[in-house]
Amino acid sequence: MPVKVYTMSDLHVDYHGNMQHLLNLNHPDYADAALIVSGDCSDNLDKLTQLLRHFKTIFAEVFFVPGNHELWVRDSKHAHSIDKFESILRLCQNLGVHTQPVKIGSGEHSVWIVPLFSWYTKPGEGDDNLFEHKDGNDITEEIWSDNRFCRWDTLASGQSVVDYFLALNTQHVERQYDAPVISFSHFLPLKELSFAIGFLDNGPKHFIDPLPEFNFTRVAGTSRLAAQIKQAGSVMHIHGHQHRNRHRDIDGITHISHCLGYPKERQNPHWRGTNLPKQVWHDGKIDVEQPF
Ligand SMILES: [Fe+2]
Ligand SMILES: [Fe+2]
Repeated sequence: MPVKVYTMSDLHVDYHGNMQHLLNLNHPDYADAALIVSGDCSDNLDKLTQLLRHFKTIFAEVFFVPGNHELWVRDSKHAHSIDKFESILRLCQNLGVHTQPVKIGSGEHSVWIVPLFSWYTKPGEGDDNLFEHKDGNDITEEIWSDNRFCRWDTLASGQSVVDYFLALNTQHVERQYDAPVISFSHFLPLKELSFAIGFLDNGPKHFIDPLPEFNFTRVAGTSRLAAQIKQAGSVMHIHGHQHRNRHRDIDGITHISHCLGYPKERQNPHWRGTNLPKQVWHDGKIDVEQPF
């Protein structure tokens, strides 16, 4: 049977319009395909459950990793983000949603899909941060809700959030796979993925910054994730989090981001992408349009 893989991230179904759109989503092509959801659906687990349950009815296989929004503990029965993360893994297991590597398809068309858990390293926290200077940004990060809504008190002394999540991936990136590997994470593995091609050279002249005080690269991801992607032998890595769509070939790995994002973001004339899942793999080959 041919293997098709679709992806979408940052579904943010706290926006009623996003939830309604996704609950109405269906297509005959999805019935024998896998869907990769690379995080940020909702911090509300009832809404996350409703969404993943729907995806399970229309796709043959569904894969998921939590994003930062899932790990907010506001209005939650969970006191700590790690407790909530573990609850989400159990929730996915109960729904039949994969959060561990699984091979789909058979024979020459089979492919491994490998979820990688992650977080971000901020500037000053380690050399693996993806920080790029931006004039006038607010270093207090008041706009960044993770600082208020995530709680990491249960981590071992000296262990960073990135340490915790990447350690969960170790066994999955050290093993050998007998088919091509598509990996995915919520957070970014490489600094250049934060920017459209040419932005660092030409961006300020051509781009109206909607949030001049916010520097996304402070919270984008970690380069340690790039090392894990390479170690796993990925031919394609899918990420979310940045609400900017990407397709970039870097060092032999195709990097894809395909976000639904917030309704107001899709109204921006510079928004690239559709509000449908993007097909990225078909019959043993990467299947996407031209890089951007
Ligand atoms: Fe998001
Ligand atoms: Fe995110």
